[in-house]
Amino acid sequence: MKKLEQLYEGKAKKVFLTDDPDVLIVDYKDDATAFNGLKKGTISGKGVVNNRMTNIVFQMLEKKGIPTHYVEELSDRETAVKKVEIVPLEVIIRNVAAGSFSKKLGVEEGTKLLTPTLEFSYKNDELGDPFINSYYALALGLATQEEIDTITKYAFAVNDALKEYFAQANMELIDFKIEFGRFHGQIILADEVSPDTCRLWDMDTHEKLDKDRFRRDLGGVEDAYQEVFKRLGL
Ligand code: TMP
Repeated sequence: MKKLEQLYEGKAKKVFLTDDPDVLIVDYKDDATAFNGLKKGTISGKGVVNNRMTNIVFQMLEKKGIPTHYVEELSDRETAVKKVEIVPLEVIIRNVAAGSFSKKLGVEEGTKLLTPTLEFSYKNDELGDPFINSYYALALGLATQEEIDTITKYAFAVNDALKEYFAQANMELIDFKIEFGRFHGQIILADEVSPDTCRLWDMDTHEKLDKDRFRRDLGGVEDAYQEVFKRLGL
């Protein structure tokens, strides 16, 4: 597979075309942003952690029957993925109250939720990724009902698999964001699963091992990413 010109540069990844029209190469950067790009920084080694972690997680999810865009890891920062049309929804699952949920609803961070929740944001940087529901998604033509049903089913299945996977490394999955794409008419998991997109707390100490250390200026950002890398045996 030949790497051709850059198609797109996002906040955390660059995307390249290849000589196969169905395949792209993603290149994970160390750049970090928060609050819709208002806060900018670098997390050394983050790209390597996020690339490897996403690839291991996606291969594990494939074994559990969840289709993903993963094709092949090419280097410590580069991976070949299926070229999808991204569904413009950020799909967020929560097991424990934190972040915007805690703020919006006045529920203390760390409060275990009685059932996992699912919410959608409209993926639109200009609007700051506003919270929407499935009726809005249908009304705006962002996805069909069938796609929303598939996305919902996969998202909860991802949650079950990830909770168990991280628990084995003594980390609690507080919440996470995933994205899906369309590939030849099928919905498949795309983007990444990493400390950028998950809240992971040490099971015993509740120490934060994710991007909240960067968002909230808690220090020890690089160490947290390396700790996750080590615990998961990546
Ligand atoms: P929130 O509590 O800020 O809504 O975040 C929920 C989860 O989604 C958390 O694990 C972090 C992740 N997330 C992203 O991956 N990208 C984003 O742009 C935001 C706002 C959150």
